[in-house]
Formats: sequence, structure tokens, C-alpha cells
Amino acid sequence: MRAYVNAASPFARKVRIAARETGLIARIQEIDTAVSPVAPNTDLAAANPLAKIPALVLDDGTTLFDSRVICEYLDSLAGQKLFPSEGTPRWQALRLQALCDGILDAAVLVRYENAVRPAAHRWDGWIEAQRGKIERGLAALEALQPEWGSCFCIGQVGAACVLGYLDFRFPEIDWRSRHGRLKAWFAHVAARPSIRQTTPA
Ligand code: BEZ
Repeated sequence: MRAYVNAASPFARKVRIAARETGLIARIQEIDTAVSPVAPNTDLAAANPLAKIPALVLDDGTTLFDSRVICEYLDSLAGQKLFPSEGTPRWQALRLQALCDGILDAAVLVRYENAVRPAAHRWDGWIEAQRGKIERGLAALEALQPEWGSCFCIGQVGAACVLGYLDFRFPEIDWRSRHGRLKAWFAHVAARPSIRQTTPA
């Protein structure tokens, strides 16, 4: 299998962590892919019409996207390590994944707004609204963290990607000063090989 990824992308990181947690990384060639929201990468667009990473090309040529679909596909190959199969644990894991993806959507939009959009077209009120989603999302993660126990399922993969992306692109948010449980949890999971090997530099 070939995975189009980028070391900076938190959504690609979800897939890279899932590939390692499921033990499937040896079967996946990771292709470091430069992306821009305004200039589609032609190689990537040939595999994924949305020209977005992550995308996973299977051995039969089928391309899977987005991160949710790819992570669940890898988990189905590996025998359900990351996605609980049914009932409340499954809905809790999917809900946590959705919360984390939503925080990441907001953070990546702010990143693009600051790094890509011409300054004359920036809209401060819109950026503030995205930052509000990030802050409320962090507060929700902090409140949920006591329920996680030792579980490292897809929701916790997402939470690690959120906290890692904020450290990488938004150190000024300083989430650790306000969210002590997340701080302790992230320090603990940082020792996992899947996290260490995918930390953006
Ligand atoms: C980033 O550089 O922050 C980034 C790169 C790819 C996708 C999303 C974000």
C-alpha cells in the first residue's frame, strides 16, 4: 500500500500513528507529499480527486480517503485494535474522533489563514471564531480525559494529534497551563513509538 502523507499534517499523522499502532507500517510505503490548499499536487490529485492528504492507495489501485476511512480500514485489516466494534464504547470513540477532527479542522483553517491567505483578505473575526472552537474543544477534551483510562483507541489517536499540532503550529496557545489532565496524559503517551516516530519537527 502507498500512503500520501506530510509530516506537518495532523490528519496524515492520525493515519501514520494508526499504521504503527496496528503493526501494518511494514506494508505501507509513506510518500512525503507537498500540499497547498490553492495549488493542487498533480500526483496526489490523480489518486484523490480532492487532492488532499492523507490518501491510501491499496494494492488493487483503489484509493481510500479521508483519515477516518483510512484509519478504520487499517484497523479492519489488523483486527480491531483502535475502533471498538459496537455499543457505547464504539460511539464514544467515534464521538471523540469527531471532536478531535473538528478541533483540527479549525486549527488548520487558522494556519492557512495566517500562512496562505494574502494579508489584505484576512478576517480577524473569522479567525477568532475558529480559535473559539479550539478553546472549547480543548475544554471538552480536558473534561473527558478521566474516562479514557489506559485506552489508546482512535479518539485518543486524534487527541494526541490535536495536542501535537497545537505544540507545532500554535505554541502561543500554551494549552498545558490551563489543562493539567491533558498535560499529564500527553506526557505519558509521548513515550509510545507511534507518537515519537511521527512528531512533527
Ligand atoms: C501544516 O503545515 O500545518 C499543514 C500541512 C498539511 C496539511 C495541514 C496542515
